[in-house]
Amino acid sequence: MLAKIKDAVRSRKPGGSYEVDAVQTLKSSIRGWLREFDEVIRREPQSALHAILSIEAILLSDMPIGVESEDILIDRDMHDVVAHCQRIFSDFELVLERSFAQAFQRRNYGREALADRENVTHSYLVRYRELARREIALGEIGFGDRIAFVGAGSFPVSAIEYALSTDCTIQGLDVDSSAVGTASAVVKALQLDNQITLHNIGGQAFDYESFDVIVVGVLAKPKRAIMQRIAATASKNARILCRTTHGLRRLIYQPTSPDDLRPYQPAGVSLARGYQTLSTWRLERS
Ligand SMILES: C[S@@+](CC[C@H](N)C(=O)[O-])C[C@H]1O[C@@H](n2cnc3c(N)ncnc32)[C@H](O)[C@@H]1O
Repeated sequence: MLAKIKDAVRSRKPGGSYEVDAVQTLKSSIRGWLREFDEVIRREPQSALHAILSIEAILLSDMPIGVESEDILIDRDMHDVVAHCQRIFSDFELVLERSFAQAFQRRNYGREALADRENVTHSYLVRYRELARREIALGEIGFGDRIAFVGAGSFPVSAIEYALSTDCTIQGLDVDSSAVGTASAVVKALQLDNQITLHNIGGQAFDYESFDVIVVGVLAKPKRAIMQRIAATASKNARILCRTTHGLRRLIYQPTSPDDLRPYQPAGVSLARGYQTLSTWRLERS
């Protein structure tokens, strides 16, 4: 399938115009992949990882130019496909995080597990390590910063990466009490409990007053209510980062709508390229 798409995209005419064929091929490939994925899951759930990685290779290939990605995503017939794809990826991420976090308890994992290349979660961790590195630069995160992270998950990989790379402290929030319990055990096993604390609360109800940096995860929802709560309680000097997606990566995670950011607006961005799935905005009050 990847080769077919590559050929179609390569047939793009020079000078900015493009072959409709490339877009059609991508649309039908994504639809076809979803059908196959549902089949595979029914027959052979353990092949899900392989199936997911094969669609990821296309969505992250950066092969279609901006206008081609737009054509695919705005097509009414693709709306269900987009929602279906996002559901698969977020379910997959939740399962991956939960199973890795549980392994910390069952197998007494420690910091060495974060570098174990044999582990199925390894590429996921590497991806978040790189994302955290980009966000540390974008948010100028450094010594002594107090960070609030909305949507920490059962394996709070972003908080862990911020903590290991800078001497900051992080309060991670999650609406899911079992995610908070599991994440707290992971943080203790990594001996990072002096830097990371988890709270069972939604980002739309938290008090952000005492934080230097606030990071809103891509799966944290409802975005509008979370942003309004941040606007109502955060200090005016707080640096605020919010994750989103662009291009075909919007099939992996629902992008954050600029309307939902109000009273903030993007003032800077770190764009996902290559293997990266998530982009991050740095926000300012409009
Ligand atoms: C899969 S995790 C991803 C985060 C990832 N572990 C990281 O470190 O970047 C997404 C989490 O966001 C949580 N979440 C969703 N909406 C939220 C909200 N309004 N406030 C806090 N957490 C939320 C979900 O319960 C889920 O555990």
